[in-house]
Amino acid sequence: MCGIVGILGLTAAVPRLMDSLKRLEYRGYDSAGVATVSNVELGRRRAPGKLSALADVLAATPLEGNSGIGHTRWATHGEPTINNAHPHMTDRVAIVHNGIIENFKALKDELTATGVSFEGDTDTEVVAQLMTSYLNDGSSPRDAFSQTLSRLQGAFALCVLIKGEDNLMFGAREGSPLVVGLGDGENYLGSDAMALAGLSNQLIYLEEGDWVELTRNQFQIYRADNSPVDRDVSFSQVAATMIDKGNHRHFMQKEIYEQPTVVAQALGRYLDPINGCVKLPDISFDLAAVPKITLVACGTSFYAAQVARYWIEQIARVPVDVDIASEFRYRDPVYTDGGLAIFISQSGETMDTLSALRHAKAAGQHIASIVNVLGSTMARESDLVMPIHAGPEVGVASTKAFTCQLAVLAAFTVQLASANGAINETQVANYVAELEHAPALMAKILSADAQIEAIAQDIAGARDILFVGRGIYYPIAMEGALKLKEISYIHAEGYAAGELKHGPIALIDDNVPVIGIAPKGVLSEKTVSNLQEIMARKGKVVLFSDDETPPAGMYAHVSMPSAGDLISPILYALPVQLLAYYAAVEKGTDVDMPRNLAKSVTVE
Ligand code: G6P
Repeated sequence: MCGIVGILGLTAAVPRLMDSLKRLEYRGYDSAGVATVSNVELGRRRAPGKLSALADVLAATPLEGNSGIGHTRWATHGEPTINNAHPHMTDRVAIVHNGIIENFKALKDELTATGVSFEGDTDTEVVAQLMTSYLNDGSSPRDAFSQTLSRLQGAFALCVLIKGEDNLMFGAREGSPLVVGLGDGENYLGSDAMALAGLSNQLIYLEEGDWVELTRNQFQIYRADNSPVDRDVSFSQVAATMIDKGNHRHFMQKEIYEQPTVVAQALGRYLDPINGCVKLPDISFDLAAVPKITLVACGTSFYAAQVARYWIEQIARVPVDVDIASEFRYRDPVYTDGGLAIFISQSGETMDTLSALRHAKAAGQHIASIVNVLGSTMARESDLVMPIHAGPEVGVASTKAFTCQLAVLAAFTVQLASANGAINETQVANYVAELEHAPALMAKILSADAQIEAIAQDIAGARDILFVGRGIYYPIAMEGALKLKEISYIHAEGYAAGELKHGPIALIDDNVPVIGIAPKGVLSEKTVSNLQEIMARKGKVVLFSDDETPPAGMYAHVSMPSAGDLISPILYALPVQLLAYYAAVEKGTDVDMPRNLAKSVTVE
């Protein structure tokens, strides 16, 4: 969702805030803004749209001061206009916020009744006005902040600057992440390690309900009940240089092409090729005794969960439930005693997934998370954390995180199956060897991308595109459709190939390309028959397969390397990513920051 940053520095704040906001823009790009304290006065600049618009405003009307806060917005309450852009400011405070203040309407009515007027429609402005009212009543900045917090309901991370106070800043965390960064004579606040990369690698992740008072040389964290508390310092490995496009045109392109390397890195943490076994992080419960697994996630991570269901059921023979996180707790799931619930999330912060995790935890399930961001809330609230080691993923459309999630889930499956005796040592060693081979095959697929680029250019004019697959390739079809729609804005759906005849085939004509994902195997003939049914109705079929003798009449056949059943879904993720990427480039959309989306969704 929104990205926030705060700097109590020794040098000009604005260039550093802008640098940080650039790294946070993946969290939202509806508007951006900064505020500073300079010569006791608060100053602010805001602009609707991307960060570049704010840069233009700042070039025309610079802002001085060494202490400042910044924000990049994904709109929840109020359109992305300048008046709704953060920071929200009164004559006493400037505030940036990530999240939603659920009781903002009641607070706004209360303040309006006392004569306060509002310039915009956001929930955040209410926080600025509420804190101002406490300051006007004579409260100290610290008291005014804690009084304000005690009135707020909902999910929020806040960062506050106060007029006349060049060496003071407040932050609070309730439901949305906030990190304190420690510097040399400077201190910082940010939404995540990315925000603070280049500023600090000594981070303190605030816990739910925590708030913090910072000066340049000191800080004190308080719990929600205002009692002081110490929290651990952790060391971030996110360097500013890691967040760089290199020679690539887009972050998404860079991240697609990084996959052989990062999947190899991820597998390197989980596989022991010499001994032919899997090594998971320490587990505090008996994996062999797990009677049932629940997999929960959103978006692309949900499709990784769907792939994993096939693996876990087929290889480890453990029953699996898979749920979309936003639906999970509302269906009042029936848990099995001793069950393991696994939450998959690139960011580790997605609110729906986090709420589902807490639901399962409260029900006494063992909790595991598969995350990319190590210090994330999900990681911190899990019994078992399986990091995916993909490195920072900046493109809003997830690519390398997906294949790294799959790699980790595959390794986990093998370990689970080994632990519960579903497979023997030789089978474990064979699976490990197969996984080890994945990065090389991924590199091979990527080096033959020209054909996919040409196909993407041809189909980019379509209004609708269907993706079909069977079995474990059905979730890959859905992921292909999601990738395409989110960055190219072409309407796309992923279907189980056998389901076409029950409705979707009515959509087929010569304007509707159908992408078939059908590696050779028990189900490929059936999928190919379904594709024949499409061709008989003049549908334009593109087949991704290692079958070198596909039926005649296809519009295109992309030849894939043959691979074992475990790694094959990982490999087939690549051509669908490339297809979406090149279709979006052909259409000229904003590939890394597609409209209306954000990478880290910390609201329900
Ligand atoms: C957003 C992103 C998707 C992502 C989903 C889940 O919707 O745009 O790319 O798959 O959130 O994110 P997570 O961080 O939980 O994997």
